[in-house]
Amino acid sequence: MTESDNATAPSSLYDSPIARELADLTSRRRALEAVRLQFHGGTRVLTVSNQKGGVGKTTTTVNLAAALASVGARVLVIDLDPQGNASTALGVPHTADIPSVYDVLIDEFPLADIVQTSPESPNLLCAPSTIHLAGAEIELVSQVAREHRLRTALDDYLATVDERPDFVLIDCPPSLGLLTINAFTAASELLIPIQCEYYALEGLSQLLGSIRMIQKHLNPSLHLSTILLTMYDGRTRLAQQVADEVRTHFPNEVLQTVIPRSVRVSEAPSFGQTVIAYDGNSVGAVSYREAAVEIVRREQQKAQNEGTS
Ligand SMILES: Nc1ncnc2c1ncn2[C@@H]1O[C@H](COP(=O)(O)OP(=O)(O)OP(=O)(O)O)[C@@H](O)[C@H]1O
Ligand SMILES: [Mg+2]
Repeated sequence: MTESDNATAPSSLYDSPIARELADLTSRRRALEAVRLQFHGGTRVLTVSNQKGGVGKTTTTVNLAAALASVGARVLVIDLDPQGNASTALGVPHTADIPSVYDVLIDEFPLADIVQTSPESPNLLCAPSTIHLAGAEIELVSQVAREHRLRTALDDYLATVDERPDFVLIDCPPSLGLLTINAFTAASELLIPIQCEYYALEGLSQLLGSIRMIQKHLNPSLHLSTILLTMYDGRTRLAQQVADEVRTHFPNEVLQTVIPRSVRVSEAPSFGQTVIAYDGNSVGAVSYREAAVEIVRREQQKAQNEGTS
């Protein structure tokens, strides 16, 4: 639009909610372009979990991973869900003949042997899931160290790989079975995506109860570091109520950034892409990039505060 268009168009056009939203998105994009982040060698391992299905675990895992890669981080996604949706969204082959997380958990393959690079970025890696993983939940029951298998594989990988990732994100299935327990044992941070469309806190107490058990018996360093509100539709009262309620209960864990419900986000996986690659300027992509920056900065801020206190 030219300046002369501006001069003749009715001012109400520029005052409309859509015009305001576009202006807001443009300034958020500019702010992101100016962001410079540094990564300091340590690897943060986050498991993205919520036993409720369809709340945005996989969408959050892959888009956050791509957003972190876009700001210079090296990121490994471990797809622990037999549905393999994270592998699909990252454009990584995961047919039954491909070595996968199943081989790592059951046959003790080194993680390095199954990790693939996503076509989206050389900084974006994926340990794919295949359909075989569906059987792993049962096969693991009779295995030695059944809760620690992913942890052992990940520790070996991080100790031997040439370029250590800055982040490992683990996408969990919607259950609290042995696959999810392996993720809880391997990670130090828990990221819970919460769908702002129903009273999400009800399901959360069961998840937090499981986390307490894991802390006590398997992994004392696991803690809830991050809650991300997803599929937010600011026009509905319910979304605002859910967001307010979650923020009241978890003031330190909930990110300021909220992921809105967006068609671009839901379309991207059918093109084998994250929303960052599919439409990097869309509101969904911008929001996931903001969430990534916030996750990095909060931790750096925390480390600084601990250093000065
Ligand atoms: N911000 C969003 N806007 C629009 N659609 C979304 C958004 N986030 C997720 N979705 C859609 O919601 C559905 C569920 O999301 P997703 O698969 O990420 O959930 P999940 O928790 O991983 O599910 P499951 O429990 O089956 O693993 C998908 O169709 C996804 O495309
Ligand atoms: Mg999923």
